[in-house]
Amino acid sequence: MTTTFEHLTAKVENLIHGAFTAKGAADLLALQHRDIEELCLKVKEPGSGQSRVKLLTQLLHLVESHSKVEEEVFYPAAKSVNKALTLKALEEHAMVKAIIAKLRDISTADETFAAKMAVFSELLEQHFKAEESQYFPAVQHALGDDRMIELGVQLEQAFDRFSSAPIAVKLPAKRVAASKRTAAGGSAKVSPGSKPLAKPRAGAEGKARNLGPGSAGRRRVP
Ligand SMILES: [Fe+2]
Repeated sequence: MTTTFEHLTAKVENLIHGAFTAKGAADLLALQHRDIEELCLKVKEPGSGQSRVKLLTQLLHLVESHSKVEEEVFYPAAKSVNKALTLKALEEHAMVKAIIAKLRDISTADETFAAKMAVFSELLEQHFKAEESQYFPAVQHALGDDRMIELGVQLEQAFDRFSSAPIAVKLPAKRVAASKRTAAGGSAKVSPGSKPLAKPRAGAEGKARNLGPGSAGRRRVP
């Protein structure tokens, strides 16, 4: 039986979460986009004491993990309701992967590094803009809030599997709890929020290595 206290607590939670629009997967992926953009800036202009190679290693790992969860969780669901934009997004991912391979193949001291980073950053920016302005809203409209919240939970779980390092962009705990409640049949809403970035693993200066899942460290970016 629900106590008065529990009833009031639930009411306050609903008021708090109700102030935001439930988007789930779109929110989570957009938060990852912001982190990637932030890391791009840091790689281009590292602060004093920051290693460009370490920042680049973390950036490439984050972009690959983000792309992987999109391709394995979000895009298959989205393709069923918007094939054209899903195929376009996959083509953009292929271009991003091609530049990642080039960035891994050169030293950060290479004369073409800045140019490659600029193209990489611009490609990501265009891709994120297209996803957030067209693709995500279209999929959101077609799938509905509840399905998007379910996908958000699945995305986060997949990110944990693909990358044991907490460079994964996580939903704040309240949003995860709300998402899981909703996925189980509840009506909680998901709110936007921030999440931590992790520091890359220690590595030798030079080329950014091709790191597999779980290869990054657990410290945070300064
Ligand atoms: Fe994407």
